[in-house]
Amino acid sequence: MSNSLGIRGYDFVEFYVGTAKVWAYWFSKAVGMKIVAYAGPETGVKDKVSYYLVKNNLKIVVSSPVKPTNYEMYNFLTTHGDGVKRWTVNVEDVEKAFKHALSKGAIPKGTIKEHKDADGFVVEASIKLYDDAEITFYNADNYKGLFRPGFDEPRLKINVEAHETGLQIVDHIVGNVRENEMDYWVDYMNAALDMKTFIDFKPGDIGTEYSSLLSKVVRTSDSVIRNPVNEPYLGKRKSQIEEYIEEFCGTGIQHIALRTDNIIETIAALRKNGIEFLDVPSTYYDILKQREVKIDEDIDELKEHGILCDIEGNGYLLQLFTKPVGDRPTFFFEVIQRKYGSEGFGKGNFQALFEAIEREQAARGNF
Ligand code: FE2
Repeated sequence: MSNSLGIRGYDFVEFYVGTAKVWAYWFSKAVGMKIVAYAGPETGVKDKVSYYLVKNNLKIVVSSPVKPTNYEMYNFLTTHGDGVKRWTVNVEDVEKAFKHALSKGAIPKGTIKEHKDADGFVVEASIKLYDDAEITFYNADNYKGLFRPGFDEPRLKINVEAHETGLQIVDHIVGNVRENEMDYWVDYMNAALDMKTFIDFKPGDIGTEYSSLLSKVVRTSDSVIRNPVNEPYLGKRKSQIEEYIEEFCGTGIQHIALRTDNIIETIAALRKNGIEFLDVPSTYYDILKQREVKIDEDIDELKEHGILCDIEGNGYLLQLFTKPVGDRPTFFFEVIQRKYGSEGFGKGNFQALFEAIEREQAARGNF
């Protein structure tokens, strides 16, 4: 199955961060990724440094400005702190995808660019997403080098020993927007990437007594791109989405879900590597047992690792959320395993998840 716009799937995700070298170390040590390529003054890039990290089909770039004249990056960091600047979609034809997106109302960020060196060329073009992020259409079919022009062998050898995490690929990327902005960005992405709304979580579907949110999920017809968009909804206290927008100083990427084929081994390895996850109350597993769910895993083993389980349709999913990975309570990762064709996002876990988030919010005084 394929989609009309020639979208093959997620390519790399780029984070703007304070110090790329330290984040590259973190992705290497904690997430178990390999530093494959580096760009910076040593490779002819004067005003920023970037590290390109890979784990199976998961590709991450961390970039930092190194000259005060790099206003674009410093402005992002001053406002938002460390966070996701862009996610790229690998497409067969960048020009076709970009022209389609613009014809459907997408806001361009620059023009189509071709970057060349002795190893070939890559083509890319970006559109605006949320306040200060971008979706980049990307094609590197004609490039034979390590990553893309400007990148070379990682001269700073900071690859470290990490427990094998088995992470495979980006499963979905979630955005947080303000009240009444969700439908705008859902319609925008559906039009630009020729996607459709797959799930519409309405008032009362997601939330606790205290805080709640609305969420819609857009995806390509073959599900290679899946993007939920959240907005806050009336609650007795501050929604976690409101907290994100206040702390991030704007709308942006809330979390990226990383897929694994064995979540128990993945979570065990990530914990050993030092990653912190949201705590799941033990009562969650009592309820799971009472429901007499039929899953391959032993519920006590899920409890031991603090993994959440959601049954829906034919399949089920297993998932867990990290605590925010930076200094601000903004961006975090999710780890997810989909079994027997599960297409969901863990609706049955929202209650437990939100209560865990609310405990963290309360500790920060953000109610
Ligand atoms: Fe998610």
